[in-house]
Parts: sequence; C-alpha cells; structure tokens
Amino acid sequence: MADNPNWKTFLAPYRQVVEELIVKLRGMQLQYEIESKHSPIESVAGRVKPVSSILDKAKRKQIAAEDIEEKIQDIAGVRVLCQFVDDIYTIAELLRSRHDFEVIEEKDYIRNKKESGYRSYHVIIRHPVATIHGYKQLIAEIQIRTLAMNFWATNEHSLNYKYSGEIPDAIQARLKKAAEAAFRLDGEMAKIKDEVQEAQWIFHQLKSQQHRKGE
Ligand code: GTP
Ligand code: MG
Repeated sequence: MADNPNWKTFLAPYRQVVEELIVKLRGMQLQYEIESKHSPIESVAGRVKPVSSILDKAKRKQIAAEDIEEKIQDIAGVRVLCQFVDDIYTIAELLRSRHDFEVIEEKDYIRNKKESGYRSYHVIIRHPVATIHGYKQLIAEIQIRTLAMNFWATNEHSLNYKYSGEIPDAIQARLKKAAEAAFRLDGEMAKIKDEVQEAQWIFHQLKSQQHRKGE
C-alpha cells in the first residue's frame, strides 16, 4: 500500500503546505533580523510524514483510511527551534494573529510535560492550499521548542526507535533526569536572557559594520 501511486497524489498538497510554512516562518525570522531585534525563531525545519509512519499510526490509533486526513494531524509537520522558553509563547502568539491560516488546537507540553519527560508546544493549524483541482484545507502541526528541549527529544526519539518504543526502565529513569536537567538549563538561560541578547546584538552590529567596510 505504501507504494500505491495514490499516496503521491494524496501527499503532494501536504508537501506544498510544509514548504509554504517554512517560507512563512523563515520570513518572520528574517524580519526580526532586519529590524535588529532578537528573533524568537532560531531555526525552522519541516517534513512530510513517511507513508509507512502514517500507516503505523493509523493502525496504532485504529483510524480508518477515510479519517486519516482529519485524525492524523502531523502528516505535514514543521518544527521551530528557539533559544528561550518565552520565545515559544511569542511564536504561538504570532501564529494566532495570522490570517493566512487558522489555529485549531494548542497543546502546551511545557506547562504539562508528558509522562516521558517530553516538553514542547504544539500548534495545530488548518492551512489552505491551492491545488490544480481547487482549494483544500489541510491540517498541519507546528512543534515549537527550545534547543534544550529539542536535544532531549531527539535523543529520546532515537532510543525509542532502538527499543521499538519499550525503553528499559533504567534508561527511562535517566531520560527523565535528563529532561529535568534540560528544563533547569532553560530556566538558567532565561535568567541571563538579557545579557545573552545584548552580547548577540553587539556581535550583530559588529558584523554589519565589517560588512559595510567590505571586510
Ligand atoms: P503521536 O504522539 O504522534 O501519536 O500523536 P498525538 O496525536 O498523540 O499527538 P502528540 O501531541 O502526543 O504528539 C505529536 C508529536 O509530538 C509526535 O509525533 C512526536 O513528534 C512528538 N512527541 C510527542 N510525545 C513525545 C515524546 O514523548 N518524545 C518525543 N521524542 N517526541 C514526542
Ligand atoms: Mg502522542
């Protein structure tokens, strides 16, 4: 079924949405840079969920084929990384204020961390996409997290893969400790945020001065 050519047709508009979202978010990042303001966006990446993962998830959650579009919300997925925790809430607010897509759900796994220790902020949106057959509204997931949260989630994801979702208790306990350490790191960084930003602003000025002088 994963080789079915219909999947290509089904996924094409999702690919389009992922690319459009990346452009929009990088556009925001660039605007902050042009205005010499701290950008709450550090980097942006996206992907379309592989067919095999879509099928796995549908099976795991007992989602019928015709419900996949509505119930699997991360077929189009974009991840935004931030330096500081409060940047996450700035980005969520920016997303809410846009008129080119609609926020339909928000999951705050920072204030309500998951059992695994996972922290992140998820915004589910409905995004229009023009296809050659007319307009469609597609669901997409935007994950917003700090670099520290991402470091943790990436490592935990690898372990989950290695152990097929059944991470041994001892490793799970270590992961929970690591999640708390990442959370404390974010807390400490928040306390020196102004200092860090000032340093980065000075560095930015210096770079543009050198650029003007043609160095
Ligand atoms: P799935 O977790 O994908 O089944 O979707 P869901 O509908 O339950 O939504 P949820 O918000 O729980 O998760 C969506 C996505 O967040 C996942 O696909 C992962 O990318 C990420 N995520 C959620 N929980 C964890 C976790 O414990 N560890 C890691 N590494 N990522 C997670
Ligand atoms: Mg889940």
